[in-house]
Formats: sequence, structure tokens, C-alpha cells
Amino acid sequence: MTPDIRPLVAGNWKMNGLKASAAEFKAMIEGYDDDLARRVDLMICPPATLVLAFAQMAQPSELAVGGQDCHAEASGAHTGDIAAEMLADASATAVIVGHSERRQDHDERDSHVRDKAKAAWRAGLIAIVCVGEAEAERDEGVTLDRIESQLKGSIPDDARAANLVVAYEPVWAIGTGRTPMPGDVAEVHTFIRDKLSARFGEDEGGRMRILYGGSVKPNNAETLMAVDNVDGALVGGASLKADDILAIASAYRQIMG
Ligand code: PGA
Repeated sequence: MTPDIRPLVAGNWKMNGLKASAAEFKAMIEGYDDDLARRVDLMICPPATLVLAFAQMAQPSELAVGGQDCHAEASGAHTGDIAAEMLADASATAVIVGHSERRQDHDERDSHVRDKAKAAWRAGLIAIVCVGEAEAERDEGVTLDRIESQLKGSIPDDARAANLVVAYEPVWAIGTGRTPMPGDVAEVHTFIRDKLSARFGEDEGGRMRILYGGSVKPNNAETLMAVDNVDGALVGGASLKADDILAIASAYRQIMG
């Protein structure tokens, strides 16, 4: 938690979800009641094929819909890619960029991620920029160096609290059921906060949301979300089930009292 920052729980469905998943999504909309919506923003990032239908279903609730990736350019000869403008046109309000699976599977470098974040802003979307160390980097003790260079390289200079969310996702914690100790999460999140405040000023940097991601589940959400400078979660596997993502968001009922 950071005082005065409204938390965000964002679900990343990755390459999962068909038309039939609308029933599960409907249960999420219904479970995101007024009490929960007062405490925490909730967003689902389904595969691109479902963005428009889900955004339409979500109306008039406060549940937001985002994309999982975008191309740096607005249009053109890029077979199979999707532009930030297309996501915005489909009523997405945010897009994840630089997820470690994109960095790994598609050889995305910090400079690509930065261009995608700029594209998100050009289209009026919030950019959720992911950073995180690999297991070998943590073992070598270079976690903070790695995070620092990813932040520098992946976040454009004109970032603002209103259009940037940073997600810290240790690569070794994604989909593995392993999570860092709360003290380790606190160390990295406080480091990220300090870097954002130094670069963008106390006012903007102090209000940017920093999410934790990597094996967030209903049974560890309260512990992780209560850590200093953790302003929500980016949730993979557990975001596919309405009961699980709602239980994770509901951690804020306990944390906020
Ligand atoms: P996980 O994925 O919750 O399944 O570990 C997190 C992510 O990749 O965003």
C-alpha cells in the first residue's frame, strides 16, 4: 500500500480465453460490487479477440478492459500485430507492454518496450510497463541493477502518474507458485519508487502505481498487497477464475478495513 494511491488489480489472461469465457467474465463484473469498486480498480486483459466484446459487456460497471501488447506504430504492414489505436478503438483503456513472456518469446528489448509505451499514450491508453529479474540475476545479487536498467530503458521520459503503471514481476515467480519474501518485494518496490520519484519528481513519481506480479493467489494476496509501495497486483493464472481474482481484489477489504 501507498497512502493516497488507489490500488489496481489487473488480470492478464495471456493466450487463454474463448467466446465461452464470457460467462466467467460476467461473474467478475457481478462480483465487482460497489464496496470493492470503492477500494480498488479492477481490470482484465483478455486476448485481443475478446477485448471489444468484454469491454461492451463490462458497461456500465467500472471494470476496465486492457490489451496484452501493442505495436509501436499506429498502422501499417505488420502482419499479425495490433496497434494501440486498435485496442483503444475496441474500448480498452490500458495495455501491458514488456511482459517477460514478450521479452523472451519475441526478443523485445527495453527500447521496443519504450516505443510501445509511447504508442499506448499516443492512443490514449495507460501503459503497464513490466520489469523483473531472472532467477540467475537474483542469485548473482544484481536484481536492483537489472531493475534500474529496465526502468531507464523501458519508460519514456514523459511518463505521468495518470498514464503509467509499473509492474514488478520477478521472472522466476511467474507461473511457478513461488513468490519472493515480503521483505524482498518491499526492497524492490521501494527502490522503484525512489527511481520514479528521482526521475519524474516527488509529485508524479510518488503517485505512480507499482504493481507486484508473479504467482499472486487468494492465499497470499493480503500479505503481498500490504507491503509498502505495492499498489496492486498483475495476476496471471488466478485471473482466469472469477472467484480467484475477486478474492485477490477483496484483500483490500481487509487491508483497508
Ligand atoms: P502468474 O502470472 O500470476 O500466473 O504467475 C503473472 C504474470 O505473468 O503477469
